[in-house]
Amino acid sequence: MRSVQRVSKKNSVKTQKERVESGALLVSLKPAGYPLRSSLHEYPEVFENNVFEFYAREQWNGVVVQSGEYLFDRRMFPDFAFKVVNVMPEGSVIGQSTVFLIEDVNNEEVLPEPSNNVTFDDVIGQDGAKHKCKLIMKFLDDPEQFGKWAPRNVLFYGPSGTGKTMLAKALASATDVPILPIKATQLIGEFVGDGARQLHQLYDRAEELQPCIIFIDELDAIALDRRFQELRGDVVEIVNSLLTEMDGIEAREGVCTIAATNRIESLDPAVRSRFEEEIDFILPDSKERLAILESNIATFPVELEEDVNLKTLAEKTEKFSGRDLVEKILKSALHAAILEDSLVGNKHFEEALKRTAASSLFKNSDEGMFT
Ligand SMILES: Nc1ncnc2c1ncn2[C@@H]1O[C@H](COP(=O)(O)OP(=O)(O)OP(=O)(O)O)[C@@H](O)[C@H]1O
Ligand SMILES: [Mg+2]
Repeated sequence: MRSVQRVSKKNSVKTQKERVESGALLVSLKPAGYPLRSSLHEYPEVFENNVFEFYAREQWNGVVVQSGEYLFDRRMFPDFAFKVVNVMPEGSVIGQSTVFLIEDVNNEEVLPEPSNNVTFDDVIGQDGAKHKCKLIMKFLDDPEQFGKWAPRNVLFYGPSGTGKTMLAKALASATDVPILPIKATQLIGEFVGDGARQLHQLYDRAEELQPCIIFIDELDAIALDRRFQELRGDVVEIVNSLLTEMDGIEAREGVCTIAATNRIESLDPAVRSRFEEEIDFILPDSKERLAILESNIATFPVELEEDVNLKTLAEKTEKFSGRDLVEKILKSALHAAILEDSLVGNKHFEEALKRTAASSLFKNSDEGMFT
């Protein structure tokens, strides 16, 4: 199915006026190819960015885009697909002022992500991690001052949904330096050697751009205990190249690596010991849960009923992560209210809580069966 239809359905809650107002500032695309392969097809390359941009704005005008989706060319090379790598802001609509960036299809390396608008203040709690980030910012401001005492390798760890990726984004937007983000899962390529090569390229690129941060998300995907790595030969290779980079045998001054994981106990001890600091992300307490609820509700497109008591909701959501609160409670309650064309009331939150409790009961019993 064409992305145009799929995407606009997803966003059908927005009115036409809202869409036009939330125009995409920047869309980066990567040529992805044709849905079917044939020797008759030419594989087009973008030759002149300005001309491409002109056509792109014309033909995709009004389309709502999210990263990870595809846009299909209709005019130049019909049915040729472009993968949307990045959109600023996410879920916005292509308009006459949207800037298009085209990634080189042969360029395997990860490009710097344009800064986003998450700030340190948006990340509730996690003070230890924020302190470390402030230090990293000082280092990025003046790497030479630190010499051999530079912060090099920092590990963010803790339960899923506690703000590790969010804080890395905040760090990127708070500094002028580029952040090269990569998911460890992206490194496991089709061919042995791909991942190790990509990793070296990433560090080479970081060195060119220094001062600079490399953010390796979901580190556990590659750096699990050796026993698991050996299940895939190339993973051992990736880990070895990561160790080389982290040791800084080739001096990569001005490059700081931050990695994130929620399975610190299963990390390869050799990788783990390379981190000078392990920063613990913890589940929010009730005050922090209240703050997360409040700051997210402030952006609700629908108002709250008077019967909603957020303090009580915060107390009832012990052991919920920030992501659980946003995705399972707030989003679910908001969607239920939108479907009913009503304000968001206490009953919507109660129903969302019940649904979450039911699904986690199911999850626990499931775990019991297989572990
Ligand atoms: N400390 C926090 N303050 C405010 N919002 C938070 C916080 N933690 C999580 N959230 C909310 O949850 C979402 C997911 O958080 P994030 O992606 O940073 O989690 P993570 O720790 O990287 O999880 P994972 O280990 O699964 O990758 C955020 O986009 C935000 O909406
Ligand atoms: Mg994350």
